[in-house]
Amino acid sequence: MARGRKLIAGNWKMNGLRADGAALAEAIGARAKAGSARCDLLVCPPATIVDVVGKALAGSVVALGGQDCAPAEKGAFTGDISAEMLKDAGCAYVILGHSERRHGHGESDAQVRAKVAAAWRAGLVAILCVGETRAEREAGREVAVVSGQLSGAIPGGVAANKLVIAYEPVWAIGTGLTPTLADITTVHAVIRDNIPAGTRILYGGSVNPANAREILSLAEVDGALVGGASLKADDFWAIAEACP
Ligand code: PGA
Repeated sequence: MARGRKLIAGNWKMNGLRADGAALAEAIGARAKAGSARCDLLVCPPATIVDVVGKALAGSVVALGGQDCAPAEKGAFTGDISAEMLKDAGCAYVILGHSERRHGHGESDAQVRAKVAAAWRAGLVAILCVGETRAEREAGREVAVVSGQLSGAIPGGVAANKLVIAYEPVWAIGTGLTPTLADITTVHAVIRDNIPAGTRILYGGSVNPANAREILSLAEVDGALVGGASLKADDFWAIAEACP
């Protein structure tokens, strides 16, 4: 099957005050304007600076996303942010089920599934993260784990234009370690069998300018979800430029 444009998404995590977030967004936006990106571009800043970053990106091709959302639309949920609020702030995407939410905040597949449904209710594209821990990989369980996360966290009514999957092995996030290219291909192929045709599957976990080209050259990889390297405009842009 012919593949479409790749998507390079930056997950800024809990990094960025107003000034440095705006500066980073402006630097990325300027590169995207000057060069002709061969891929789609997305940045997901912390919720407090979505608005500032959105203004800094105005007129550029770089899309905006959130990093999490609540299942409910509104109400007595102190500290939570709804998908509708992200949409209202200018987001088109939201990252859901990131391992730092699953493991750091104990989010279950059922909770992630409710959040994906909320994202769709608000008209956002859900970037659903899946991936095995080191122990699960060592036990040879990565395919079973990822398959279970997909069946547990994707609501009914799924369509390729409202879902992106990010395969992020937990042991590869922020560690400098990555699976072999063959292992990435194997897991992506399993994911592809479980989602509608045409749904993008990103790889995430220690993607950087040095390894981006070989990872993004894989036909099974429709882009990258980038953490640490998305915090430097030069590195993020180099990864975007590595798209074939
Ligand atoms: P990393 O993070 O690129 O810093 O490994 C990726 C992610 O957590 O989305």
